[in-house]
Amino acid sequence: MTDPIVVTSECSPNIALIKYWGKSNEELILPLNGSISITLDKSVLRTKTTVVLEKNTDQSLKSTIKICLNNELQEVDETNPKSNGKQVINVKRFISVLNMVRNSCLISDPYSYNISISSNNNFPTACGLASSASGFACLALCLANAFQYKGDISELARLGSGSACRSCFGGFVKWTAHEESNKSVASVLFDHNHWPEMNILALILEDERKIVSSTDGMRDTTKTSQLLKHRVDLVERERLTQMETAIRDKDFNSFAELVMKDSNNFHAICMDTYPPLFYLNDKSKLIIRLVTEFNKLDGDNNLKAAYSFDAGPNSFIFILDKYVLDFVYLLKNINFEKSENVDKNFILSVTDDFLRLEEKISDARKAQLDDFIALFNNRFCNEKRFIKYLIHSKVGNDPLVSVNDWSVSLLKNNCKPVDK
Ligand code: PMV
Repeated sequence: MTDPIVVTSECSPNIALIKYWGKSNEELILPLNGSISITLDKSVLRTKTTVVLEKNTDQSLKSTIKICLNNELQEVDETNPKSNGKQVINVKRFISVLNMVRNSCLISDPYSYNISISSNNNFPTACGLASSASGFACLALCLANAFQYKGDISELARLGSGSACRSCFGGFVKWTAHEESNKSVASVLFDHNHWPEMNILALILEDERKIVSSTDGMRDTTKTSQLLKHRVDLVERERLTQMETAIRDKDFNSFAELVMKDSNNFHAICMDTYPPLFYLNDKSKLIIRLVTEFNKLDGDNNLKAAYSFDAGPNSFIFILDKYVLDFVYLLKNINFEKSENVDKNFILSVTDDFLRLEEKISDARKAQLDDFIALFNNRFCNEKRFIKYLIHSKVGNDPLVSVNDWSVSLLKNNCKPVDK
């Protein structure tokens, strides 16, 4: 009887600075253009996954696959994927990742293992953040280590969900567009220490699922948008290099302008899709307005913050240390109803003293911000409490992987979930 193999990994979601939208190959998930992202910090947002492989010693029985995602269980029948009923995971993509691993690995007889998988997120599913990138990155890392996969791990994660390939690394990450699958991979441009003053704020405005998934949306855009060609050309010819240079030089002005222009351009492509895709809502537009006005506050032509939106209304703000408290002060005071618990419920942060931000802003600056708020509320915003959560993150580091360590595993060695 051979010992089971256990691998546990932890990965974070990533936010694209230059976005991916549109595939040249649907099966292999090859992107029309390259993209660049920032990986978030695992202490605020992470997926944790454990994979256990046990040798199926009874040849008369089919090998089994059991997956438990956020406490929902699914048994996957590989021979009959249609019989799988309610899917807690995209079974077709899961099998495509699994087969890629088993067809190119060092472990002997890779099809003879029973596979148990358990995975959960440390952020509420209801907080409106997609977990497919961190989820498939975790799965790829676990399967690759368990089966001793010979190929590129980011290529593997990409088969599950395109943007997942970028969550296989920390720091600033680039995913290259290429017609050959093994060349369309992600790699680190700069590690998480490169620009320590950088902060990412996720403003969760809505927590419902999006109406059109990125897969369907991209398919429609690729089929119908005339402007997409122009975008792909622009990104490949100019934007990827410009973004890389801005990050390398820590040039926040160029960085912020590019981030906002690329988000705007992506949503213009969505509008050009037929029928159009509307991911931004009125609250998102209010955030765009807020960032635009905040950038004018000191009248010094320096950008202080940048907004970006993916395929949904929630907003991501990129902002350096010296302005982050000012901006959060604005968010908290722009028509938020004050309540005793507002900070505790509202802010999830990597920094413990983030909640006591009021003490850290000078009285003179606070007076200036209060004037800004009065003006902004009066002109643009009379809706109360329009932000559900604010998540504060720094640039995150590489994923964690532990091989054959049951102490960190989400499954016991009898493959039952560990007790909470
Ligand atoms: O990888 P998917 O299918 O979740 O698509 C991601 C698409 C965007 O988030 C809008 C852009 C990106 O590059 O992450």
